[in-house]
Amino acid sequence: MSNKNPIGLFDSGVGGTSIWKEVHALLPNESTIYLADSKNAPYGQKTQEEIIELSKKNTEFLLKNNCKLIIVACNTATTNAIKALRASYDVPFIGIEPAIKPAALHSKTQKIGILATQGTLNSELFHQTVALYSDVKVVEQIGFDLVKLIENGEMYSKKMILLLEEYLLPMVAQDIDYLVLGCTHYPYLIPQIQKIIPKHIKIIDSGEAVAKQTKNILEINNLFNTSKNVNQTFYINNPPEVMQELIGDKFKVEYKDF
Ligand code: DGL
Repeated sequence: MSNKNPIGLFDSGVGGTSIWKEVHALLPNESTIYLADSKNAPYGQKTQEEIIELSKKNTEFLLKNNCKLIIVACNTATTNAIKALRASYDVPFIGIEPAIKPAALHSKTQKIGILATQGTLNSELFHQTVALYSDVKVVEQIGFDLVKLIENGEMYSKKMILLLEEYLLPMVAQDIDYLVLGCTHYPYLIPQIQKIIPKHIKIIDSGEAVAKQTKNILEINNLFNTSKNVNQTFYINNPPEVMQELIGDKFKVEYKDF
């Protein structure tokens, strides 16, 4: 594996760009290829077998493009498929899981909220993590339809605000002091969420931790890019407009039917 090869990232859609931003900020000298499988979003309501199959398809595309490391920039794919991916492919994988640990360790009310997809909240990996913090009450809420609205570019629509109120206000009523965003699409909802929940509730996600972990794994495996040639590539299998807006105009998003 050559050091100048790119880091691959995939998500069910545009949400994992929130992770890409953290990775690129910490590792600007690395090339990346980001795959948005928006055609198949949302993954959150699919069976584990379907999520594994789609995750393998994305991984194989990234491996064909010579990725030296793969970030599964999707909580749903990580919690359902990372074991199968690690067993099937000989490349380092970094996954993303809801940040239950820091929330549970720092909560003063001993009550934390988690907003995530059905696939993540129902996964064995998620249940194992929650079981480690049995003295903390974890208020779970499925974010039905949020991913779909984000994929459509409806981050600020009336429908989005109503859904967020419906999901978040009952958590607030249960006295949570941390809100864990357990889906990589949701960081794009932080300004909207902040208008709904009281200021003392801290919102956390796992983006920064994933970027740091990526740096560690590159270091351990001696995989830092040493060449001057750096490229950021973005592919999506749906119209590219929403993703283009999320990453800004510095990089071009290309449509690709993968
Ligand atoms: N970004 C994905 C995640 O982190 C969204 C999953 C979905 O497509 O439902 O879970």
